Amino acid sequence: MQHLTDRLPTLTGDEIVAHLVPPRQFTTATLDSYRPDPDYPSQAAAVAAIREFVGSWKPGGLFSRRRTSTLPGIYLDGGFGVGKTHLLAALWREAAGRTYFGTFLEYTSLVGALGYQAAFQLLKGASLICIDEFELDDPGDTRIMSRLLAELAAGGTRIAATSNTPPNALGEGRFAAQDFLREIDALSAQFLTLRIDGLDYRRRDLEGHAVTTPAVELQSAAEKFSGVLTLDRFDDVIAHLAKVHPSKYGLDAIAFTDVHVLSNQTDALRLVAFVDRLYDAQVPILASGTSLDQVFADEMLAGGYRKKYLRAMSRMIALTSGEGL
Ligand SMILES: Nc1ncnc2c1ncn2[C@@H]1O[C@H](COP(=O)(O)OP(=O)(O)OP(=O)(O)O)[C@@H](O)[C@H]1O
Ligand SMILES: [Mg+2]
Repeated sequence: MQHLTDRLPTLTGDEIVAHLVPPRQFTTATLDSYRPDPDYPSQAAAVAAIREFVGSWKPGGLFSRRRTSTLPGIYLDGGFGVGKTHLLAALWREAAGRTYFGTFLEYTSLVGALGYQAAFQLLKGASLICIDEFELDDPGDTRIMSRLLAELAAGGTRIAATSNTPPNALGEGRFAAQDFLREIDALSAQFLTLRIDGLDYRRRDLEGHAVTTPAVELQSAAEKFSGVLTLDRFDDVIAHLAKVHPSKYGLDAIAFTDVHVLSNQTDALRLVAFVDRLYDAQVPILASGTSLDQVFADEMLAGGYRKKYLRAMSRMIALTSGEGL
């Protein structure tokens, strides 16, 4: 049996650039396949605004005469599961020319791997850069990204971004647009902000808790699985995450035994970052012990990272649903 704890992935700059496309599960995401919830008019409005954004830079395009949105940037703000990544991938697909799509973490890893100038030279001249989950947690990273985007935008590159939750965002209803605009400072006047309200789309189909499998069944399911699967104790995985960058592990499925409630916030946040990577790659999870949507202690859920935990819970419910196993 293979173990996640034996894997120490590192990626070169070229490998990171080759991955700057939407995650596999969004291959079919288009503006037409997005179904706006009639209860939340901001969803249909967001689709219309994105169409206009796209149309404004297609010469002779359907919307070129209207030209109301000539801003080079667009920012999608909203809660988890309202379809921000879906819409960002759909927008990316509409663009012509050299385009990139990645999470904030992927862009900062690129800068980390290549250095600022080389990363800038690589991205320079792109027609569109999409950044999913713009992080506002780390002022250093935010500053580097703002500078990178400002320099790219000055060269004519369009920018589309989605929000991630700022660390002090108490309450699910809070939107991040104000923090985003403040952090990107000089660039902020160039962004049209779209606020998308709504329910977690994943919960339209998935109710209840993350699925747990009895330990014995989990063992035999893991043995029967034909792709690359790792099996580890939950605690060992959490300890391992402290040592590695949460990048791609090249897995088809992952199994944890002895899942339990986490009492340490640093561990919990590492798990959140790891779940994000699993979700991006749509790696199904098998787990025994406590249901994975219940690993965040109540005090944590009441704290400043509430929205991050709720999103990770939503993602773990989706990944344990058995799809892909
Ligand atoms: N209105 C919608 N119509 C069709 N599919 C949708 C809609 N909203 C979301 N989805 C689908 O639901 C899933 C979750 O959406 P997505 O990942 O885009 O949400 P998100 O806002 O980026 O969430 P997160 O906060 O977790 O990043 C995706 O598979 C997406 O294609
Ligand atoms: Mg998303």
